Amino acid sequence: SQSPTLEILGQSYPTDTHTNTTPTILSKLSRNLHLQPSHPLNTLKRRIESHFSTFTHLDNLNPVVTTTQNFDDLLFEPSHPGRSKTDTYYINSSHVLRTHTSAHQSDVLRNGKSNGYLLTADVYRRDEIDVSHYPVFHQMEGIRIFPRSNLSAEISSDLSTLTSSAPSPTSITDIPTSDTNPIQSVHTKSEADLVTKHLKTSLESMVKSLFRDETLQIRWIEAYFPFTSPSWEMEILYQDKWLEILGCGVVQQQILDSTGHADKVGWAFGLGLERIAMVLFDIPDIRLFWSEDKRFLSQFREGEVTTFKPFSKYPACYKDISFWCPAEKEGEKWHDNDFAEIVRDVAGDLAENVRLIDQFTHPKKGTVSRCFRINYRSMERTVTNEEIDRIQDEVRRISAEKLGVTLR
Ligand code: PHE
Repeated sequence: SQSPTLEILGQSYPTDTHTNTTPTILSKLSRNLHLQPSHPLNTLKRRIESHFSTFTHLDNLNPVVTTTQNFDDLLFEPSHPGRSKTDTYYINSSHVLRTHTSAHQSDVLRNGKSNGYLLTADVYRRDEIDVSHYPVFHQMEGIRIFPRSNLSAEISSDLSTLTSSAPSPTSITDIPTSDTNPIQSVHTKSEADLVTKHLKTSLESMVKSLFRDETLQIRWIEAYFPFTSPSWEMEILYQDKWLEILGCGVVQQQILDSTGHADKVGWAFGLGLERIAMVLFDIPDIRLFWSEDKRFLSQFREGEVTTFKPFSKYPACYKDISFWCPAEKEGEKWHDNDFAEIVRDVAGDLAENVRLIDQFTHPKKGTVSRCFRINYRSMERTVTNEEIDRIQDEVRRISAEKLGVTLR
């Protein structure tokens, strides 16, 4: 039933056994929400760009990348779970929809003359369904590199301009060097400290200006990424909860070496725009970013951060589906994301939440029964029970056909 080729943004790709994109997903590639002038994601992007005004700004790179760009160039191990078909949209075995903006790091560094980049793009991940997860979202990535020979002087002069506009001194503790998050052996402690200080100061100042709050509480959590070491996640205290804002770290020297920057050291970060925009604009459901309803779009002005006023919440409609899953064989394990993908494809943005509510194993046969509750709701109107019944029937039919489940 699968066509032998896929046409994506004017390019033709052969399909194969890896292909797992759906028409619903591919229809998002041309939306470019981050480039729509009064869209909240564009406003947020421009605020961050104005903070990094000396960087080169990129925002229209092709979302189809090779597995080399998305994984290998970034030093992902061959067995890294991120490569799995359950997590990533494959066009075919060699091409994917980028899962993060880091997919462009090597190309940008290789082509570049600039010592600072900011890159904004739509990224794609197979995932669960709820109010804060959508299979397409937007990231912004920053990279800054410095000549190794003059590191201390360049960093201190840059930091003095950064901190002169930010009166409260930032408290940067000594960087952790645990076994799992070490300073790279090719870097001296002083090099790693300098780059880290510049990284943390730059990002603290950016996030304080975004939230217009010089006293914003920030904490740094040790993290792991294959392409940075040491690595951190930044969290901010917002309405009494710690909110993860971004991932970052000192760029793996191997990446700089292989892109023509062996004489440099640098840092990189990547942040999710929706997560921050939901907080800044008070947008309660991630599907709203994709709304073409005037009642959403007309609320926002170019470059302005304003609070969203919900236009009534329409009633939800719950439907449960139960089935016996096929016996698991090697390489054919059950994954909830595969079921979520069917719901996405059939119900589109009417699917608000999919939750596993019950699961048990047959005592004799050993087969597994799962029950999912699908919460349907439109952001724009009241849905009818008949229309949702038709969608639910289609979800049942396709689940049986594609996942081989036995409906109960
Ligand atoms: N690409 C990472 C992610 O999507 C974020 C990141 C970017 C981390 C750059 C470190 C450096 O989670």
